[in-house]
Amino acid sequence: MLVQEYFKSRTDLLEAGLKEYLSEKDEYPQNLNEAMHYAVFSGGKRLRPILFFATYEILMGRKNLNRLNRVLPAAVALELVHNASLVHDDLPSMDNSLERRGRPSVHVKYNPATAILVGDALITKAFEVLTDIKNRNHAVKSIDALTRAISTRGMIGGQAVDLISQNKKININVLKYIHMKKTGALLQAAMEMACVLNDTEENLTITLGNYALNLGLAYQIVDDVLDEVGTYEVLGKEPGSDARGHKATYPSLIGLEKSKKTAEKLLRDCYNLIKNMDGNEVLVEFINQVKERLP
Ligand code: IPE
Ligand code: IPE
Ligand code: MG
Ligand code: MG
Ligand code: MG
Repeated sequence: MLVQEYFKSRTDLLEAGLKEYLSEKDEYPQNLNEAMHYAVFSGGKRLRPILFFATYEILMGRKNLNRLNRVLPAAVALELVHNASLVHDDLPSMDNSLERRGRPSVHVKYNPATAILVGDALITKAFEVLTDIKNRNHAVKSIDALTRAISTRGMIGGQAVDLISQNKKININVLKYIHMKKTGALLQAAMEMACVLNDTEENLTITLGNYALNLGLAYQIVDDVLDEVGTYEVLGKEPGSDARGHKATYPSLIGLEKSKKTAEKLLRDCYNLIKNMDGNEVLVEFINQVKERLP
């Protein structure tokens, strides 16, 4: 199967799952349900669920769309949490971003109070969805992996340090911590959940988790680079917001060229971790896609 076909078919499955699990947008309270739909169905790349599916299918030993229905709750939960993080990240009290995915951010289209509730509702919905995993042991372990990823030691912790680092010149190790946590942790959870649902042995779980963490760090460095020199089309918002917000970013700390080199080195490390795995084409494609985002 062509890798493009793989992305398309798994994205379609995910979209169907999201539609199934979210309440209809005209269901009471309409203001909230409509805003949740606005947040979720707005052209996201769905990277985390696809990474999850790809890992699950590598571990299963074959690509089989029909076998993915039973693990669809995990893919849906990952995307819901990610979208919640973006809605909150854009709030005036956080990054104060007016646009997301080429459209007004949720708090601009609706209002900040609604955006707070949308984020809260998407996160709680994610865990409700995970309880739909039929194997109880797998369900509990998936919930454990996802809660760890978004906890004070994960994404939320990363976002907290991101906020207190605004207007400051921080150490590169602190910046690496921010990026690994705010972006890497959820990608790691995507691969860990695939491992959990396959009862994968610990060493392989660690290897795949490291691939995801490095990929996440590289992805966020590239996002920082794009915020300086990218286009509206790639970013889905006006570039330059990090500089305007005096955010701590890789280019602001080590410059554009060194940032690009660092991302490329991380992507090579990613490749080395998975190069000998059977059926790794989609994981290789992820590496290439992140590299291709670099201007
Ligand atoms: C945006 O993530 C936030 C970062 C981690 C840089 P994505 O680039 O995956 O956003 P969508 O979901 O495709 O819009
Ligand atoms: C986002 O980092 C990370 C999370 C939302 C957890 P950024 O703040 O750089 O992402 P964008 O640029 O707004 O998409
Ligand atoms: Mg941010
Ligand atoms: Mg932001
Ligand atoms: Mg950014």
